[in-house]
Amino acid sequence: MMMYGLVNRAIQQMVTTQHGEDVWKRIKAKADLEDLDFFSTFQAYPDDVTHRLVAAASDELGLSGDQIMQAFGEYWITYTASEGYEQLLESTGETLPEFLDHLDNLHARAGLSFPKLQPPSFRCEHAADQSVDLEYRSKRQGLAPMVIGLLHGLGKRFGNSVMVEQTASRDRGDARDLFHVRYSDQSVASETNSETDSDGVSHDHAQR
Ligand code: HEM
Repeated sequence: MMMYGLVNRAIQQMVTTQHGEDVWKRIKAKADLEDLDFFSTFQAYPDDVTHRLVAAASDELGLSGDQIMQAFGEYWITYTASEGYEQLLESTGETLPEFLDHLDNLHARAGLSFPKLQPPSFRCEHAADQSVDLEYRSKRQGLAPMVIGLLHGLGKRFGNSVMVEQTASRDRGDARDLFHVRYSDQSVASETNSETDSDGVSHDHAQR
């Protein structure tokens, strides 16, 4: 399967801004991509390229692959906003639950720029207690940690403190990926952010 270069560019930018140009060069070399000058946003690359970058970053930074993917998911929200997709993000929803309801819509519209997009698909079941059960479907395997990061990134965007629990996992043999997402409002978020991050990611690393 192929993936647009926008994704690899985002990984490059995350690594260079958080860890510097030298670290990126080492990661690129470790991933056997020395000969590549740059990633083009609208060119499709094999998924394997992305997986090699994640594995090399994991090696170089001493974080697990899941931690890298999670940090990347979080980074993706601000990255896409800064790369010309802020309008698209804005029109997807004014609140976190509304936004989650329209994720397929977002990718359908992203597909206008990326005609061969193989997007994920999401379905929400909302509960009255500020929680959502979110089902994630993909033709790809192993990207659930990225979804957890994406949800935290969206929490930041909307000023919600977000707690994510994965309640079913294809990687663990379940038929589907399912997340229980609890979100509290803004005022609570600023007080309890550091305590409620139970995802195991070093956020010092992830957000610098
Ligand atoms: C305007 C913002 C966004 C744009 C432009 C965008 C675009 C893309 C692109 C180009 C890919 C690579 C797939 C391919 O090339 O076939 C992708 C994958 C993905 N996107 Fe988005 N996306 C955006 C926002 C989001 C958000 C907010 C989520 C939150 C859940 C999300 C979830 C995913 C996931 C999980 C994948 C991995 C692919 C898979 O699961 O198969 N994206 N997106």
